[in-house]
Parts: sequence; structure tokens; C-alpha cells
Amino acid sequence: MRILVAGGTGVIGSRVVPLLTAAGHEVIATSRSADRLLPAQAAGAERAVMDARDAASVNAVVTDVSPDAIVHLLTDLATEDFAGNSHLRIVGTRNLVAAAENAGVTRMVAESISWVGEPETEPGDESVAIARDPDTDESLFPAVESLEAGVLSLENGVVLRMGMLYGRGTWFGRGGRIHDRAEGGDVVATVRHTSFVHVDDAALAVVKALDWPRGIVNIVDDDPADADEWAPELVWAAGGNETQLTVRSTGRASTNARAAELGWVPEHPTWRDGPFDLV
Ligand SMILES: NC(=O)c1ccc[n+]([C@@H]2O[C@H](COP(=O)([O-])OP(=O)(O)OC[C@H]3O[C@@H](n4cnc5c(N)ncnc54)[C@H](OP(=O)(O)O)[C@@H]3O)[C@@H](O)[C@H]2O)c1
Repeated sequence: MRILVAGGTGVIGSRVVPLLTAAGHEVIATSRSADRLLPAQAAGAERAVMDARDAASVNAVVTDVSPDAIVHLLTDLATEDFAGNSHLRIVGTRNLVAAAENAGVTRMVAESISWVGEPETEPGDESVAIARDPDTDESLFPAVESLEAGVLSLENGVVLRMGMLYGRGTWFGRGGRIHDRAEGGDVVATVRHTSFVHVDDAALAVVKALDWPRGIVNIVDDDPADADEWAPELVWAAGGNETQLTVRSTGRASTNARAAELGWVPEHPTWRDGPFDLV
């Protein structure tokens, strides 16, 4: 296939690009900066510069590339600008879906998040309704809803609800913001009941999902945990001493049975191995 990877320089995209080229696909990776795409080019991809917030820029790239499928891995989390990230989810997705429709592209695989369901202790499947959480940035849930609705409006739109990413280059990896706080013994957990997924497994799921039918699929490991359980493990692994945990009161863990049915089984079934692979 000819595949446009929107967000080819991010923590997932930088792994997806070489997986796709190695599988024989023609890959065009995007960024706002041609220089940041040099690793993607070294992995055999073409480079395309676009600003996802600019509809004309997105439309020009999608029209020019004329892909068979679009992989949507656009987030704006490097600077922890959560409102900016929500804005990108809404506007970037809208621009990408409009450009896809314009170019006759029906297949899109997009990254969403798994901790969106009604807060309950039992892990939820893909049917859980997106909840409103008064403790969370108010832009988060409407933005996730908007992203998912846009992607699912396409005939072959697949939404991957990813768990909390860990592994090299993530917030949990060395130098990442959660790792660094854990080193000092202080962890701020985003949600109470957490499903994790290793970032390498997340990338493998994106590649597999290019063949999946339209719908939502949770991409999480087998071992959801309460923040009171995983935070001390993380602090210990990062070399911190006593754990001080600040946690939001809500959040929903998820099951991965649907992904298993579709052929994705995590190579890292639990975050406890390592633990957290803090390389
Ligand atoms: N489920 C999760 O837990 C989850 C998911 C995602 C990220 N994160 C965390 O967030 C941290 C940062 O993520 P990241 O490394 O993927 O970086 P990021 O800054 O979130 O960027 C992701 C991708 O989106 C692109 N992008 C962002 N804004 C864009 C825009 N306006 N137009 C076009 N492209 C745009 C970036 O390209 P350029 O910047 O090159 O333009 C990059 O390829 C990671 O450490 C990770 O742990 C967590």
C-alpha cells in the first residue's frame, strides 16, 4: 500500500514508519519540519511537510500523495499543552478526514486513548461510553469524541484506544516527565485505574490495524492496575525512595479481547516486566 503517516516523527510514528517500509509499503511521513523527518527518510520513507491545523496544507499533501491509507498519529504532547493537544485532535482530525474524503481515501487508522470510559473498577471493552470527568482538563473528552467520530465517518476508519504508553521515548522512559518525577519519589498519575501498553506494541498494532474493519479497538496490555499499585513500583524502578502519589479520582482500565480476536497480542503483556522498561 501507499501509506501517509501523519505524525511520522512522534513516539509511535517514528516506530511505525520503519515497520511499514520493512513490510514493503510505500511510506510518506509527515512533520512540520523536513529536518525532523531525516530518520524516516533513512528508513526508506518520503518526507512531506504539513501543519495539521492548516486545512489547505493538509489537503495539498493528501492530494499530492494520493495514499491508499492514512495513519493518524498527530498529538501535541511534547510540551504538555493539553488544551493545544485537544485542539489538534479536533482541528487536525477534521482537516485530515476532509482531505481524505476529497482524495477518495476511505482507510484511516488513528490513535485515541483508552482511559475515556465511565469510571468503574472493572476494565471496560470498546462499548464503554466516553465519560465526562470533572477532574480532567475539560477539553479532553469532547476532543476525543470529535476525533473518533471523524475517523469512524470514513468507510474504513479504525480508532485505536491506546493505553498509557511506556518504553523508550515516552513519559515513563528515562528523561521522560513521569520517570523524572518518580526518580524524586513524586508521581502524578493521570488516572486511578490505568491500562498500559508498551510503545513498541502500540506501533505493531497500528501496522496490523491497516487490515482491520471499521470500528474501535482497545490497544492495552493484559495487566491493568490501580495507581496505588503501579506508582510505588515505578518509583522503586526509577531509583526513588518514598512514593508521594497525586492521583486523579477517576479513569477506566480496558480489556484487549477485541484486539486479540483481530490478531494483536502484546509482546509485553505486563508493565511489571522490567518494570516499565525504563531504558
Ligand atoms: N497514550 C499515551 O500515553 C500517549 C500518546 C501519545 C503521546 N504520549 C506521550 O507524549 C509524549 C510526546 O509524544 P510524541 O513524542 O509523539 O510527540 P508529539 O509532540 O505529541 O507529536 C506527535 C506527532 O504529531 C506531529 N504534530 C504535532 N503537532 C502537529 C501539527 N500542528 N501539524 C503536524 N504535525 C504535528 C509531530 O510532528 P512534528 O512535531 O515533527 O511536527 C509528531 O510527529 C511522549 O513522551 C509520550 O509518552 C502518550
